[in-house]
Amino acid sequence: MRLSKLAEGIKTSPILTLAAEINDKIAAGEQFYNLTVGDFNPSYFPIPEAYRTAIIDAYKAGETNYPGARGLLGLRKAISAYLKHFGKLDYDIDSILITGGARPIIYAIYKALIDPGDKVIFPVPSWNNDHYSHLNSAQQLLFETHPEDNFMPRIDEIRKRLDGARLLALCSPLNPTGTAMSRKGLEEICDMVLEENARRAGKEKPLYVLFDQIYWMLTFGDTVHYNAVQIRPEMRDYSIFIDGISKAFAATGVRLGWGFGPTDVLAKMRSVVAHMGAWAPRAEQAAAAKFLTQTDLVEAYMNNIRKEIRTRLDGFYKRFKALEAAGHKVTAIEPQAAMYLTVQFDLVGKTTADGRRLNTSNDVHRYILDEAKVGFVPFSYFGASEDSTWYRLAVGTCTVDQIDDIMDSIEAALKKLS
Ligand SMILES: Cc1ncc(COP(=O)(O)O)c(C=O)c1O
Repeated sequence: MRLSKLAEGIKTSPILTLAAEINDKIAAGEQFYNLTVGDFNPSYFPIPEAYRTAIIDAYKAGETNYPGARGLLGLRKAISAYLKHFGKLDYDIDSILITGGARPIIYAIYKALIDPGDKVIFPVPSWNNDHYSHLNSAQQLLFETHPEDNFMPRIDEIRKRLDGARLLALCSPLNPTGTAMSRKGLEEICDMVLEENARRAGKEKPLYVLFDQIYWMLTFGDTVHYNAVQIRPEMRDYSIFIDGISKAFAATGVRLGWGFGPTDVLAKMRSVVAHMGAWAPRAEQAAAAKFLTQTDLVEAYMNNIRKEIRTRLDGFYKRFKALEAAGHKVTAIEPQAAMYLTVQFDLVGKTTADGRRLNTSNDVHRYILDEAKVGFVPFSYFGASEDSTWYRLAVGTCTVDQIDDIMDSIEAALKKLS
């Protein structure tokens, strides 16, 4: 071994590997639909026009030096006002840290709270907590969630693992499922955390909760995003939130994220981020300070992106339910939030037209990929069991017009199975 144990053990993202495989096929001239990555095609999902203009103006105005370790004051003020206006949350400028996309916030939370061997609890499927745990040599206490719960965690599963745990990592709206936590579910979790921390008071380090709410602005219909501090104000001391512009403003490549939480934890996270230099570019920050305070523009953009995403999710959902009604062993969970649809291909045991039996969920995945030419991400890539029959379908890279073509192709592939 030439490298550190950490580097030897690091895994590349299977999602990005799959996405690259499909993109290679597309580049080689094959007709393929890539619904794998949680990204947006800027042709259909551009960033807000006013934000784009403000970024260009900021560069022209010479906003090109270091942005400072906390992030620009003007942006922290704007985020504080944004959280107040859209989320009814009170976080001041010292409780907000700005980074280059949301990922450095997650990394810094782990770094600030976790010593090697410390326990981190998280439900699966989950986005990247396995990687952040590995990067911080944490002990992963994970458990599976279920479709009948919209893949949200059961309180007893968390409670069982509480002993000595340092961090509970939660995400809602959830990547990969596009579902959101209910008020009751969140209340139960908050009460359990508060009870546990009351028990620990002065004797043990508290249990913190990482709340990843990067998709909170993208909810549909009756779905409401609940925030722990709003429903249990005492949770403020133990909660660190993750947010940013990547998903709400289709700005995955602009790289601007932020975290908010207790100032003492944030101060240490700031140092971690500063040593990595994982700051957001200054011009993007200056422009976001301008854009986010224009609430009418933000609202107009949000209304449109929600409509665009929802039309796609509903389109796929209806076709999956129609296939199910026609007797195919597929289904989908009604879309609630984010940019993902949870779909099921329960096809193990089926036989292909050329007489091959689909023996494993991986065979099923490959069959849909090769025969229908459509790429989804299996939940096993998000830590669910290898035999999970559930998949994530991401809609940010397709047009509404493509939905029928994609679903016709899936239907044709399903019809070839016996
Ligand atoms: C749940 C969740 N949190 C955080 C991120 C990271 O966002 P960013 O691209 O801003 O680093 C993602 C990106 O896919 C995500 O799905």
